[in-house]
Amino acid sequence: MISLKTYKLMDQEDPLKHFKKNFFNQKDEIYLDGNSLGKMPRNIPEILGKTINNQWGGKLIRSWNESWLELPNRLSEKYAKLLNSSAKEIVFGESTTVRLYQILLALIQSGNYPDNVITDNLNFPTDLYVIEGLKKQFPRLKINYIKYDNEIEADIDLLKENIKKNPGIICLSLVTYKSCYYYPMKVLNQYAIKHKSIIVWDLSHGVGSVPIDFKESETKIAVGCTYKYMNGGPGSPSFLYIENGLHSLLENPIQGWFGHKNPFDFNPQYKAAENLNHFKNGTPPILSMQAVESGIDLTLKAGILNIRNKSIKQSEIIIMAIKDQLSSFGFKLQSPENISRRGSHISISHPNAWQICQALQEGSKTTPKIIPDFRPPNFIRLGINPLYISFEDLWWVINQLHYIIESKSYFKFNPDKPKVT
Ligand SMILES: Cc1ncc(COP(=O)(O)O)c(C=O)c1O
Repeated sequence: MISLKTYKLMDQEDPLKHFKKNFFNQKDEIYLDGNSLGKMPRNIPEILGKTINNQWGGKLIRSWNESWLELPNRLSEKYAKLLNSSAKEIVFGESTTVRLYQILLALIQSGNYPDNVITDNLNFPTDLYVIEGLKKQFPRLKINYIKYDNEIEADIDLLKENIKKNPGIICLSLVTYKSCYYYPMKVLNQYAIKHKSIIVWDLSHGVGSVPIDFKESETKIAVGCTYKYMNGGPGSPSFLYIENGLHSLLENPIQGWFGHKNPFDFNPQYKAAENLNHFKNGTPPILSMQAVESGIDLTLKAGILNIRNKSIKQSEIIIMAIKDQLSSFGFKLQSPENISRRGSHISISHPNAWQICQALQEGSKTTPKIIPDFRPPNFIRLGINPLYISFEDLWWVINQLHYIIESKSYFKFNPDKPKVT
């Protein structure tokens, strides 16, 4: 077992150690749920306070020209730096679900791809629901739902075989929500291109946790939320990336006024804006867009490679502890062991997972509260955001898991689950 002193030494040597103070941190609490909803950056009350008091409360409508119209473009520029693309290829707004529907519909209606949609059992439920809904709308679509023989890793050969047999539109989560499996993005993009197919990547668990390079990986289309590793806050706007070459081939099925070439001419005829601007729909959510910017700035400042390096070190520590110390107590690793195929959270399972989650959350006078999340039927996800998780935090997590399981203190908690776990 690694000593607490060693963990503290790792913290001293950590190049990201100063980033934690940029977030709102609760005393004696270790937050391992940043893969679900990230922490709030410390300057958000100030930023939103200014927006509310000076702009919304003060300048009102004049704020559009002074700053609000520019805000979505500024976010696109920052994301373009993070993901190596052009700002003209990224738009913000809407939830990931709405964006997924919008882009899948645009691809189907373009007629540029065969009417096959491929997805798999590792994908997030909303992606599956959207595809199922599109099938109702377009009965001609053939949905190819690949079920691997496990819930942890994709079988890339099987996936390729399906693409070859049924080319068309493929929808995958780059980093999967349950096991944290991380697909080989470039290999699959190239394979899809070769077979006249296109992959729509859901990057909700990828942006801010793993390095993503749209150009180098030959990515054509991606969507993703900003409230996880980007710390944008509940309901923060998602982003949509469409590679330059596809802009003129895809029409936005939602012909909204913000996607018009000259929205403020109020022309009754729709004329699509240039670049990806025609994928803008209605009025952007200014308050939540203001809140996203801070998290993007912090990620850019820290550097995604530094974030990834620390995430690798931290997740390896947890995995070692699960395998060497906790597996004999019924814990099982439910994430890929190979770090090159894993993002930044670790999933473990235990027959009493929900009760153990509650015991972790309770803490005590001498131990911190630990906030992981629970996914049915018996998964505990330990989310590592290297911007605010220290090595010492991990020492506590491992020790608390030990204590709870050995002392059976979890027995006193209700096995029934509330609505949000
Ligand atoms: C992979 C993935 N896609 C989509 C979503 C849902 O996104 P939204 O709530 O923005 O529609 C989530 C939410 O956790 C997710 O994990």
